Amino acid sequence: MAPLLEIRSLRTFLNTPRGVVRALDGVDLFLEEGGALGVVGESGGGKTTLALSILGLLPQRSASIQPGSSIRYRGQELVGLPPFALRRLRGKELAMVFQEPLAALNPVLTVGEQILETVARHTQPKGTIGRERVRLLLEEVGFPDPDLGARSYPHELSGGMRRRAMLAVALAGEPSLLLADEPTSGLDAIVQLQVLDLLRRLQASRGMALLFISHDLNVVARMARRTAVIYAGQVVEEGPTSEVLTRPLHPYTRGLVGARMDLHDRRRRVRPIPGEPPSAMNWPSGCRFHPRCPEATERCRREEPPPRGMGARRPPAPGEGHWARCWLREGS
Ligand SMILES: Nc1ncnc2c1ncn2[C@@H]1O[C@H](COP(=O)(O)OP(=O)(O)OP(=O)(O)O)[C@@H](O)[C@H]1O
Ligand SMILES: [Mg+2]
Repeated sequence: MAPLLEIRSLRTFLNTPRGVVRALDGVDLFLEEGGALGVVGESGGGKTTLALSILGLLPQRSASIQPGSSIRYRGQELVGLPPFALRRLRGKELAMVFQEPLAALNPVLTVGEQILETVARHTQPKGTIGRERVRLLLEEVGFPDPDLGARSYPHELSGGMRRRAMLAVALAGEPSLLLADEPTSGLDAIVQLQVLDLLRRLQASRGMALLFISHDLNVVARMARRTAVIYAGQVVEEGPTSEVLTRPLHPYTRGLVGARMDLHDRRRRVRPIPGEPPSAMNWPSGCRFHPRCPEATERCRREEPPPRGMGARRPPAPGEGHWARCWLREGS
């Protein structure tokens, strides 16, 4: 299938008073038209930085995408694109739902006004056609009374309805790619499932591609056919979600899967991955997971493992097969 999004060697650094944070340090990802890719990993791995890099929403003063990085959307290079061109793509082609809807929604505009803003910016002028679109969109995202929803301010809505409102604003420009960054964090379990199901249905009915970010492998497993595991600013494993879950190649992924199992069986003790995630100012040598890896060898400490595939294709390509950056697995 045609590539919608192709990311190669993406390195995004952030300058801070304490030094340079190498938040993303060589990320390759591939997402086809209408596809769903999950990105999973612990806090600080670089997930949000990845989404902001794609959208061109990084903090301007401190962040820089390094030379040699490439983010192609339908073949068009986004790295280095002037801000006005990125703004034009945002909302219309690319849209995002954020971790914290109150930060993403404008507190002084009603939900309806915010949807109209997006519609007006990208498709048609405000007016009766716009208002009808607002109603339909709010209906589509599950507002039982769309007219009331349109008149509400964000703070008047429950957590779940706020996520739905944010989704309606994001969908208003009919994006081809939706980036969802922990879109259900802070919701209780039932509302979380409702919002995830809604997102999945919308993705299918609109033929929209989805980049779904979460620290929770359970959630990613519901949403995405393929999963990329991110650790220390790199993708350390990628493959079909079912395989990543049942036959993880990387010891880090096995840790995430172990933690996931224990969520289902509350009698067993949760097995968090031992040790702390490393500092993005000073990634460990060799394999970045080696200080926490129970199986690490001398080679792991010294040499950085390249992606090694399990399938027929060698060397592995992002978006295909099942591969990991690990010296311990047999591979190409
Ligand atoms: N504006 C910033 N200034 C300085 N450092 C930052 C900034 N934003 C992110 N970082 C650092 O970059 C690294 C990656 O952060 P990022 O927010 O992308 O991780 P994440 O995977 O989204 O984590 P979480 O699961 O907590 O949301 C972290 O080390 C973080 O401390
Ligand atoms: Mg984040």
